[in-house]
Formats: sequence, structure tokens, C-alpha cells
Amino acid sequence: MSGSGRLLSTSLTAGDESSPRIVGGHGAWFTLENGREVIDASNTAAPLGHCHPEIVEAVARAAAAPVINEGWHWAEREQAADDLIGIAFDGEDWAGAVRFFISASEANDAALALCQALTGRAPLATRERAYHGGAGLARELTVQPQWHGGLSRAAGGVSAPPRLATVHQLPAPCGARVTGQPDPTRGEGWTGRAREMLAASAAVLLDYSQGGVYHSPAYQDRVADLARQAGALWIADETVTGFGRVGGWFQFQHGRSRPDLVTMGKCMSAGGAAAGAVVLSAEVAERLRGTSWQSYSTYRAHPVAMAAIRAHLRVSRRDGLYQRARELDGLMLDRLGQIAARHPSVARVDGRGLHWTVELHGPDWRDWRGEDPSPLASRVVARALEADVLIATSGEQTSLFLAPPLVVSEAELEQIFAALDHGLALADGEAGP
Ligand SMILES: Cc1ncc(COP(=O)(O)O)c(C=O)c1O
Repeated sequence: MSGSGRLLSTSLTAGDESSPRIVGGHGAWFTLENGREVIDASNTAAPLGHCHPEIVEAVARAAAAPVINEGWHWAEREQAADDLIGIAFDGEDWAGAVRFFISASEANDAALALCQALTGRAPLATRERAYHGGAGLARELTVQPQWHGGLSRAAGGVSAPPRLATVHQLPAPCGARVTGQPDPTRGEGWTGRAREMLAASAAVLLDYSQGGVYHSPAYQDRVADLARQAGALWIADETVTGFGRVGGWFQFQHGRSRPDLVTMGKCMSAGGAAAGAVVLSAEVAERLRGTSWQSYSTYRAHPVAMAAIRAHLRVSRRDGLYQRARELDGLMLDRLGQIAARHPSVARVDGRGLHWTVELHGPDWRDWRGEDPSPLASRVVARALEADVLIATSGEQTSLFLAPPLVVSEAELEQIFAALDHGLALADGEAGP
């Protein structure tokens, strides 16, 4: 519970201390209720920062739209589909058609169900430590232990609801650029088992950042080849990495292979409205010809979401923001390398562009039970907030992540590194390797 006690806690950030009350924002900054301003250093839904005037204007205009559901035609919805393919998928001639959803969770659930229908197979595959959302099949493929949709064991109760599908977990390519951990998916040793899993699966859903796992293009290409040979479809989950977070419109573009479906959400509407989407390859879209995709929800493709998506695409292309993370990758790598070398509490640092994960020594992520009311990662976040920067945890006990708006300045990034330094000093005193 929080505040008056009527609102159930989301448990995204364990412990109240690391979760201040926010009343406003501008650029990379949040305004807190006591008037303090802090840098928002981990918000993958705010690529243009907070309250960007062109997003505010687009949403205000669209608020005057009539009340229409997914079933009625709305001109700006078709324009949004054209913009998405024409701008973000420019040069990707294989991309065929778009369907909009309310969230990335919903988009993943619908895409997975579609793949089951297309292949006649029920099991699904992802990779270890993946996060794909909190609803339906997306939640089933969220294999991080703390997001199973049930209860933590903190109250002595248990635990996870029964599963909706058999889920195969491919090994995670968890090498690290900064701290140098080796990648267990180098070489071919892992592919025999992966081949078997994929042969039994309708689809493999791959994201590129969750659980602190940042795929190499080689891993993507190898899984894509194996999936194709095994008759499984490949869905690229670009919810976090899409629209410039890692430099370029999408992470899958760093490899040679191209997905059958791409799912997205979060930053797509630059925070202006709840929105998700599935982009189908022309080949998959062709397989739907003469049929209809039997799935509906009232608020999907809402006029406010369409307007926000279009404004985001326009601004990102015009201002080159979708490229900016590529330019800042070297600075992030350098500074986080220095920080990792200074702090014995740091076990692993990896990332790309403007998305980075810092893992601390401490309990193994597989052992999560939700029993600790004040996990180390949350206390580090609270300490960093003393230096006016909000970094985040993702419900784990020892993981921190950094993902500032793409409009962040280099001076603001330096402030983020200083705050992380300050926060980690607390962990150094407690967590030994
Ligand atoms: C990779 C990935 N996919 C899907 C989702 C689900 O997005 P949403 O919570 O907006 O439905 C998330 C959310 O963090 C995510 O990180």
C-alpha cells in the first residue's frame, strides 16, 4: 500500500524510500512534490523527455476526437500506420502491415497467440531472464522470477498462478562489455538444445535488454536461423530498444536477419498515451489474406495514441534523436567502466546506447522471493536520489538500470554518473564479491 493506503503498490520499486512523489516534469527532469528537481535517469517511455511541447499539442488536439473504438475507421490511424512503416521501418522492405494495441504486453500476447494459430503449435520460447509484459502469454514468457503474476512469498503465502503455456528458455547471451564476463552463447555448444526447443515451439520472442542481457547481433542471427529451420516464427520485442534507445530505429537492424513480427510500445507514443503495436512481415501479412485476425479491444488505436505516435516519429526523425544513443555509447562505456573499477560492490555492467544495467554482488536473481522489504538495489537508488538523480531497479534485489531520455545532455549524464557513484558507495560497505 502507499499514500492513503487505498492504492495497492505496484512493487516495481521495492521499499517506499526510493519512490518519491512526482508532480511535474520538463526535459530530462522530474519535479517532486517538495519542489525539488531530479534527473529522470531510467524511463524508457520518455524518449523526448517530459512534457515535450509537440507531444502535449498533439495529445490536446486529439482529445477533441469523437469516441471511437478499434472497429470504426479513423483517418489518422491509417496515417499513423503509414508513418510507422515509412519512417521507423524506412528501407525495411519486408515490413508488411501494422496492428495497434494498448500496450506492449498486449501486443506480445496477441502476436504470440497469432503464431500459435499460424503454426498449430502451443509451446513458446524466449531466453533466460526475459521480460515481455504482465498480461496473458506475454507474462508467461516473462521468465524473470519476480514477475509471475502471483504473490511474493513475503507473507508466507505462495506464489505463482498455473502456467498458460509450456515455455522453453534458450540460454541468455549474458557476456558483458564493461566487466568482461564471457558469453555462454559463443560457439555452437548451446545450439543443439536450442534447436530442439525451437522445433517444439510456435515462436521465439526475443527482447534485447531485459534482465541486463544485451544480445549481440550474432546471437540474434543464430536464433533466427535456428527458428527458421525449426519452423518457428521469430518475434523481435523492441519495446525497450526501439525508436532510438540503442541507436538507430531498432536493435534488430544491427544484425543481418529480419524478424517475422516486431512488437513495440512504451516509448512509441513518447509517453503521450498508452500504445503498443505489432508489425508483421509482408509474408506473414500475406498468410492472413482472406481471413481476419480475431482479436478486439475498445481502446486500441485510440485517436490520442495515434496523434502521439505521429508526433513522436516526426520529432525523432527531424531532430535525429533516434541516432543520438549511438553517439553517446562511447561516453557511457567509458564512464561506467571507471565506475565499475572504483566500486567493489559491482558484479556486472553491460549495456548499449542509452540503456545500461549495473548488477551488484548479492543474492542470485534466481532466488528471488520478495522477502526483503528494503533490497540493496532500492537502497542504492535512494542514496543516488540524495544527489538529485532517479535511477531505477526492476524489482530484483541487486539490479539497477540507467535509461535517461534521449534528449539528455552530456552535462546531465555526468550528473547521473556522479549520483551512481554516490549510491554505490553505500553498496560497497555491504556487498562483498
Ligand atoms: C522488453 C519488454 N517487452 C514488453 C514489455 C511490456 O510493456 P508494457 O508494460 O508497456 O506493457 C516491457 C516492459 O517493461 C519490456 O521491457
